[in-house]
Amino acid sequence: MKLKDCLKALVTVAALALPMTAVAAPAPIVIKFSHVVAQHTPKGQAADYFKKLAEERTKGRVKVEVYPNSQLYKDKEEMEALQLGAVQMLAPSLAKFAPLGVKEFEVFDLPFIFDNYQELHKVTQGPLGAKLLKKLEPKGILGLAYWDNGFKVMSANKPIKNVADFRGQKMRIQSSKVLDSEMRSVGSIPQVLAFSEVYQALQTGVVDGTENPPSNLYTQKMHEVQKYVTLSDHGYLGYAVIVNKKFWQGLPADIRTTLEGCMKDATKYANDVAKKDNDEALAAVKKSGRSQLIALTPQERAAWKKAMDKAHKDNMGRIGADIVKEVYAATGYNAN
Ligand code: LMR
Repeated sequence: MKLKDCLKALVTVAALALPMTAVAAPAPIVIKFSHVVAQHTPKGQAADYFKKLAEERTKGRVKVEVYPNSQLYKDKEEMEALQLGAVQMLAPSLAKFAPLGVKEFEVFDLPFIFDNYQELHKVTQGPLGAKLLKKLEPKGILGLAYWDNGFKVMSANKPIKNVADFRGQKMRIQSSKVLDSEMRSVGSIPQVLAFSEVYQALQTGVVDGTENPPSNLYTQKMHEVQKYVTLSDHGYLGYAVIVNKKFWQGLPADIRTTLEGCMKDATKYANDVAKKDNDEALAAVKKSGRSQLIALTPQERAAWKKAMDKAHKDNMGRIGADIVKEVYAATGYNAN
């Protein structure tokens, strides 16, 4: 072939190839983010915000599919799905890590250990928080951030004011031994149930009551099947945002860096909306008139704290006394 013909052929091949490259844009990287709560909760909103940031900032190279309300998986299954790589991102409550073999997170479940978000952030945003996330790595999981929810109320069909009022009440808890101890310390009977099963269990009387921050109580309509809600703030519920380690480390470096930035901003967003969401949910519960809100006197609250301190004593060994003491040092916890 002459040089001229050769060049002509090359130009034709290049011209043919051009539209093909334009069409064959690489498929986006898909992150399936599964969670168990409603969209209008601190976690639900933060997951949606992360999706928005990730898709915008990677210019569509990453697609985040958020599946709320246990649509894809319930509590226990979602952990397994993450390890198997069926989903890539979750934000389970810190009370749900022991079945995975990481009991240390149950320190966050100790009753009355945090008086407010400031005390909590000393832990979640400090070196202990980072050290706890590292414990997930041998499980094939990376912990990216802590997201706040809030402080729990106690609900039931009878008014719970004094410690004696707990006696014999069947109370739904998350899968945490510390929460099991908490409920036993006041004479109630704890029962572990997946979050997606709580409403029905309350409605049918499988359990008498439960504990959760107001945002979860309200968005799951638990207040419609609970006559009383005690404003106790007796414990904290929040999340660790976790990813499948192999997936995350296999991402192109520029994408991973961008997503880390999105997570940082989504975390700030989550922590900014958490208190407001819970305050609004509580106001909505009150307005609905379906449950009666009960305030505790400082003496009544102190009596709960004293009784529930047994959950601290009984779980020192399980969580690790060094970890519990580190949190005490940060928050100044004192049973009396
Ligand atoms: C619960 O099971 O009560 C909570 O962990 C649900 C959640 O994710 O906030």
